[in-house]
Amino acid sequence: MTANLLEGKKGIIFGALDDQSIAWKVAERCVEHGAQITLTNAPVALRMGVIQTLGEKLNAPVIAADATSNEDLENLFDESMSALGGKIDFVLHSIGMSVNVRKKKAYTDSNHDWMQKTLDISAISFHRMMQVAFQKEALADWGSILALTYIAAQRVFPDYGEMADAKSLLESFARSFGYHFGTHKHVRVNTISQSPTITKAGSGIKGFSEFFEYAEKMSPLGNASADQCADFCVAMFSDLTRMVTMQNLYHDGGFSSMGMNPALLES
Ligand SMILES: NC(=O)c1ccc[n+]([C@@H]2O[C@H](COP(=O)([O-])OP(=O)(O)OC[C@H]3O[C@@H](n4cnc5c(N)ncnc54)[C@H](O)[C@@H]3O)[C@@H](O)[C@H]2O)c1
Repeated sequence: MTANLLEGKKGIIFGALDDQSIAWKVAERCVEHGAQITLTNAPVALRMGVIQTLGEKLNAPVIAADATSNEDLENLFDESMSALGGKIDFVLHSIGMSVNVRKKKAYTDSNHDWMQKTLDISAISFHRMMQVAFQKEALADWGSILALTYIAAQRVFPDYGEMADAKSLLESFARSFGYHFGTHKHVRVNTISQSPTITKAGSGIKGFSEFFEYAEKMSPLGNASADQCADFCVAMFSDLTRMVTMQNLYHDGGFSSMGMNPALLES
């Protein structure tokens, strides 16, 4: 039986692209737990059409917004509040894209215009989104904001390239804005550092499947799946976690605390 942990809550979910996306699973689980949501993604992602299927299934309006455009984000919060009939209780930022990684540029030969685009899409969009919500007073008291991140923000994973730097910035924004949102509205802001997960963004990283297997063996509990990440997001959006803020929370089966796992030496 599903507990209705999000009964009566209204949320915005960024970043569901296809049914492998972590945001897709989070959207499904939030609605299962009684929330009403809107879905958003970049206009180009909407043109692929799959997100509309999810919108129909979840009875969730789909609103286009390029997360690098303040104008689009302002429209998104206005339309979401109007469609859901009030202020927003929770937001998921599940957006990542590295131009240098996608174009297979070595980290030591990065194109800095592309790097700026990467930082804008993958990190500054989080600040933009929070700033728009803050200035519009769009978040309800005791609301919850989450972004998804990866441990390459703390430790070196060479193939992750400039996304490591983007994630460091993203996590820093959670702390810095967490102060302002906390003192202003009791809104909490956290990042979830997720295990490698097989999705469109994940699979774009060189050597991803080998690394997925490595992390699976290194972690005492194995890799956390997208469905398990969705459960954790629901907990973080629920009233059961109201005093957790400005944290980077590892959801990785224990990977981040490991030095060596003998299981890796056996293979
Ligand atoms: N897959 C993994 O291994 C893994 C691990 C840890 C963290 N994460 C993080 O989880 C989040 C979701 O990634 P995913 O793995 O579900 O992949 P995904 O490719 O399904 O999601 C990435 C999303 O970002 C969206 N996006 C890109 N540019 C955008 C823009 N300008 N405006 C709005 N949206 C834009 C894409 O359309 C897509 O929906 C990302 O932040 C990613 O870094 C992923």
